[in-house]
Amino acid sequence: MSESAELKFGGNSYSLPVVEGTENEKAIDIANLRGQSGLITLDSGYKNTGATTSSITYLDGEEGILRYRGYPIEQLAEKSNFLEVSHLLIYGELPTKDTLQQFSKSIAEHSMLHENMRGFFSSFPLNAHPMGVAAAVTTTLSTFYPGSLDPHRSEDKVNLTILRLLAKFPTIAAWAYKSSIGRPFVYPSAKLDYVENFLNMMFAGPTNDYHVDPVVTNALDKLLILHADHEQNCSTSTVRLAGSSQANLYGSIAAGIVALWGPLHGGANQAVIEMLDKIQNEGGSIDKWVERAKDKNDPFRLMGFGHRVYKNFDPRAKIIKKACDDLLNRLGVKDPVLEIAMKLEEIALSDEYFIERKLYPNVDFYSGIMYRAMGIPQDMFTVMFAMGRLPGWIAQWKEMVANKEPIGRPRQIYTGARMRDYVNLAER
Ligand code: SDX
Repeated sequence: MSESAELKFGGNSYSLPVVEGTENEKAIDIANLRGQSGLITLDSGYKNTGATTSSITYLDGEEGILRYRGYPIEQLAEKSNFLEVSHLLIYGELPTKDTLQQFSKSIAEHSMLHENMRGFFSSFPLNAHPMGVAAAVTTTLSTFYPGSLDPHRSEDKVNLTILRLLAKFPTIAAWAYKSSIGRPFVYPSAKLDYVENFLNMMFAGPTNDYHVDPVVTNALDKLLILHADHEQNCSTSTVRLAGSSQANLYGSIAAGIVALWGPLHGGANQAVIEMLDKIQNEGGSIDKWVERAKDKNDPFRLMGFGHRVYKNFDPRAKIIKKACDDLLNRLGVKDPVLEIAMKLEEIALSDEYFIERKLYPNVDFYSGIMYRAMGIPQDMFTVMFAMGRLPGWIAQWKEMVANKEPIGRPRQIYTGARMRDYVNLAER
């Protein structure tokens, strides 16, 4: 027997159905609320509002649980690899050995960019932020592949559109970096796997080979897995909203890249390192920054701390913190900001302000230290987040299209001027 909720308003009572998910989460279905009562709901930032039902990712913010298609993130981070997790998210199941081989082969085959796209990179100013380049070039894919414009084409055509994006994004990212430092592009190689290819395109050149270090490739593969999806976060909701108008995949993903760019979201990993560097350059006095973060009159926030959903440790942060330690030890890297980060975490986690508000390190707090240890420049950190999140965005877009979800169009409560007549310029 399904449950319902009762709303009393204006002397009337309204019965609203309650829906229940696989993990017993419950929501009041308000699809008919306005029709029944004339009321809408208001929830700035959608803190209490579900936008959809989804079978892709489950997370429990209180318990610090994160699962992709039912598989715990801890197991996937330890045992899987990024392409396998991408297949799991997009197609719903872990691939067989043959399917994974075919999937990897298709990705390798589509990793080149059309030669006419090379010109775009040189048209950006040298200091162009690579997130702006990534968003622009991702949108441009839709002009080179007009077959991608219709999200309702046959399954194999949509799948080709998906494979092209997954395959080309590392090339777009690496070429955005090479273009920003005025170095020649390196083409993807079929001899290297997904992560090795990206690192080779980033760091190899005509005068130097890049030594693919398994310690680095494994660490980056793990980081990409940990970023691969996170249910209805800001950028994923942007992808779904843009796609709900039947906009094409490449344009919808570009919208997600721009949403991720913000320092409150994926841009936090770059902001964390900038904050830690500032603390270090000022002599490492952490207390001052913690006090600033607590000061209501100071816009400064402790970057990499807090989360809309996790009111316990972000399970990804736990895994990343250990992976960060391992990576720096294996590479023999001594990064002074790691000490500052760990001290900052220790101080914040014992401070009433953070405890009361359940502010813990999130996925962005330690990831930047790892990217830096790999030699990835700071303004590429959020591009790395986007590369990881790509399969999740694609899976969510695909689910939204398959479920024939209606175009997203929230309502509002108007608080502006009442009706008034036009006043001629001469009379104002
Ligand atoms: C990501 O949603 C996702 O799933 C995102 C993500 C993903 O995988 O897609 O997990 C990735 O975006 C992680 C978050 C990265 N951002 C940061 O690290 C930026 C710093 N963190 C914050 O700005 C903040 O914590 C948010 C944006 C992450 C969450 O903000 P909320 O949920 O809107 O919470 P809030 O702003 O209402 O804060 C509640 C209270 C406030 O204090 P009071 O008004 O109650 O007194 O906590 C305070 C805030 O001032 N607070 C902080 C803080 N974060 C919240 N105070 C100091 N430093 C912080 N970092």
